[in-house]
Amino acid sequence: MQVVNTVEKLQHQISEAKKSGLKIGFVPTMGALHEGHLTLVKKAANESDIVVVSIFVNPTQFNNSKDLERYPRDLETDLEALSTVKCDYIFAPAVDEVYPEEDDRQFNFGDLETVMEGKFRPGHFNGVAQVVSRLFDMVTPDKAFFGLKDFQQLAIIRAMTKQLSMPVEIVPCDIVREKDGLAMSSRNMLLSEAQRKNAPLIARTLVESCNFVADTSVQGVKKQVEDAINADTELEVEYFEIVDGYTLQAVDNWDESNYIVGCIAVFAGEIRLIDNVTYKL
Ligand code: PAJ
Repeated sequence: MQVVNTVEKLQHQISEAKKSGLKIGFVPTMGALHEGHLTLVKKAANESDIVVVSIFVNPTQFNNSKDLERYPRDLETDLEALSTVKCDYIFAPAVDEVYPEEDDRQFNFGDLETVMEGKFRPGHFNGVAQVVSRLFDMVTPDKAFFGLKDFQQLAIIRAMTKQLSMPVEIVPCDIVREKDGLAMSSRNMLLSEAQRKNAPLIARTLVESCNFVADTSVQGVKKQVEDAINADTELEVEYFEIVDGYTLQAVDNWDESNYIVGCIAVFAGEIRLIDNVTYKL
């Protein structure tokens, strides 16, 4: 396991590996690593010869400066976590290394970016596309691994690689959860004791809502989920959308698509948590 801070060094190592015909698996992260990230790294190791993990808190995807400021950063602990799995290179660049000059590219993801996270975090996905396209150019991976927890992000990344004709296979990875069901997230460590205690209600409510699909309308399920979570004193739903899993557009009834997903964002105080559940696939 080797930590690399510059693009030059990274590209040298990668071109050497590629000369030997080795396949590169890439896991982009913002650090504060947990078992969810490590599961992506393990999958990358199973499906590639060389594993590259990037740790970079990307300023261009934060639309809230407070959120950027308080985003947890602890490289030492991340390196310890990565030493427990197979990881060949950790790319941990400074901001100037990724953005030697300002990136003013404006992507257009059409309807994919006007809903849910895109609606409530304007500019977020443009920043994600900026950094991931740069990282893909630097790492030139054969496969890149993304978690289904960030359901919309995955759709955006797929659209971006298509638009830019990038020769990389995007591999989706299942959501990894705490024992009590809470989706693992770097933000969980920012929760107060009471918020952490109540946060599993989000996943529990989503799982329970699957039982109502057979005899409840889409609107009915939406209301049940929102009401159940909003009844908790620590939690407040920002949005809950039941969408077509391919287009991310809201569906009005269960027959509208063969892939239906419920995507939620919830505030626990100032900490924003997201999760999703597949109703139909
Ligand atoms: P970050 O939030 O660090 O997540 C890195 C990757 O880990 C993403 O693909 C995310 O979906 C995945 N992940 C996080 N929690 C997970 C969980 N509980 N189960 C499964 N996968 C999980 O997402 C980002 O960083 C950034 O936007 C990034 C893509 C690195 C661009 O800056």
